[in-house]
Amino acid sequence: MAAKIISGKEIANDLREKMKEEVNNLKKQGLTPGLAVILVGDDPASHSYVKGKKKACEEIGIYNKAIEHPASLTEEQLLSEIDQLNEDDSIHGILVQLPLPSHIDEKKVIERILPEKDVDGFHPINVGRMMTGQKALISCTPYGVLKMVQLQNIEIEGKHVVVIGRSNIVGKPVGQLFLNENATVTYCHSKTKNLKEITKQADILIVAVGRANFIGKEYIKEGAVVIDVGVNRLPTGKLCGDVIFDEAKDVASFITPVPGGVGPLTITMLMHNTIEAAKQSQGVCS
Ligand code: GUN
Repeated sequence: MAAKIISGKEIANDLREKMKEEVNNLKKQGLTPGLAVILVGDDPASHSYVKGKKKACEEIGIYNKAIEHPASLTEEQLLSEIDQLNEDDSIHGILVQLPLPSHIDEKKVIERILPEKDVDGFHPINVGRMMTGQKALISCTPYGVLKMVQLQNIEIEGKHVVVIGRSNIVGKPVGQLFLNENATVTYCHSKTKNLKEITKQADILIVAVGRANFIGKEYIKEGAVVIDVGVNRLPTGKLCGDVIFDEAKDVASFITPVPGGVGPLTITMLMHNTIEAAKQSQGVCS
């Protein structure tokens, strides 16, 4: 069976079109959603992510404030900038691009952002709200994964979702989101024994390991949905996921490619969160 390839690019384009309309309407009511993106240092991957965020804001009509600092910025300076943005009524979302230079405490920085402006969904208040099934800003990559699966009309309730990876940014929250949708969720990680036996039971397999071509067809049940969150750069410069796409596509029923799969959804959900945060700031219900 050849899998259906889920085009994150197409889904993202559709969602962004709708957001453009919504932002237009909000502007007519006097509300322009605003996002501040702070970049510290000169990591090339981070620069490229920030560029993508700026482009998406421009496309949708969200006000974008891009702030760049040299790696020598002190933690105190960064915290004071966050304080100012917390107070700024034209800014509804604040994102500090990670990783930060090692002299800055990421945890302190994340916790300084007001939870209602934490469009990354990294603040412990938002993580806790999400875990307890309350309204929250949900971190963008996990949210994008859920959205992708839902928009393919793939049933989640009662399904066995296996997540490989347990990072705070992807693995843990993505499993929780699927649990909230009544899936049975298993987490696997680097210390898991008999990985293959577990992943072979997955109806939906979510791979967020960060190792190029780690998951071959022997890990996948016939007809499973395979979501590849990995983005790895090969020595040739080519991007690839954690899943061996050419093998997996013959076993899976649905599969996401890399690039063009989960990636475009991440930025799209950031735009969604910024619009939601703006509406919440004015007491507009979604
Ligand atoms: N660096 C890599 N992914 C992310 C993300 O989702 N948010 C932030 N702030 N930094 C990142």
